[in-house]
Amino acid sequence: MSAPALQKTYQVQHRDFGTAGEASADIKRMLRQLGVQSDILRRVSVAAYEAELNLVIHSLGGQLSLEVDTHHIQLSTSDTGPGIADLEAAMRAGFSTADDEARGMGFGAGMGLPNMKRNADAFDIQSTLGQGTQIAMTFNLS
Ligand SMILES: Nc1ncnc2c1ncn2[C@@H]1O[C@H](COP(=O)(O)OP(=O)(O)OP(=O)(O)O)[C@@H](O)[C@H]1O
Ligand SMILES: [Mg+2]
Repeated sequence: MSAPALQKTYQVQHRDFGTAGEASADIKRMLRQLGVQSDILRRVSVAAYEAELNLVIHSLGGQLSLEVDTHHIQLSTSDTGPGIADLEAAMRAGFSTADDEARGMGFGAGMGLPNMKRNADAFDIQSTLGQGTQIAMTFNLS
């Protein structure tokens, strides 16, 4: 295992729609600066945005982390919150428990988790009801 070339962790606040999207925008900016190719940059950016917004909308707050080494980009989230009762249902396109506030801002299509899975080369989600949720995504660089 090579040493990480870059490691950064962002704190994401519950219901802070004013700053929502800033962490994933920073991730995109840094990866572009590192010279990550456009297709991978696009996939990581979509996944990071969906993960960040899920922390804002569905959790009570958590962390979004980025790690880059020679061969991979890894995105991971860890939050405290309600957790997910039925992971299989949550992974289905169109499934959403987003409330009216979130839906009023255009969220709640139930596409975030399926989009993360589709865009990542490896995707893992763990959740404990009443405690929180963790997601790990890997994107291959070569
Ligand atoms: N971090 C989380 N904590 C608790 N529940 C979550 C979390 N992430 C997702 N969920 C649950 O999984 C459902 C599906 O998530 P997904 O991101 O696919 O859709 P959405 O956020 O509801 O809508 P969209 O992402 O299209 O705006 C959510 O509605 C919510 O019930
Ligand atoms: Mg979502």
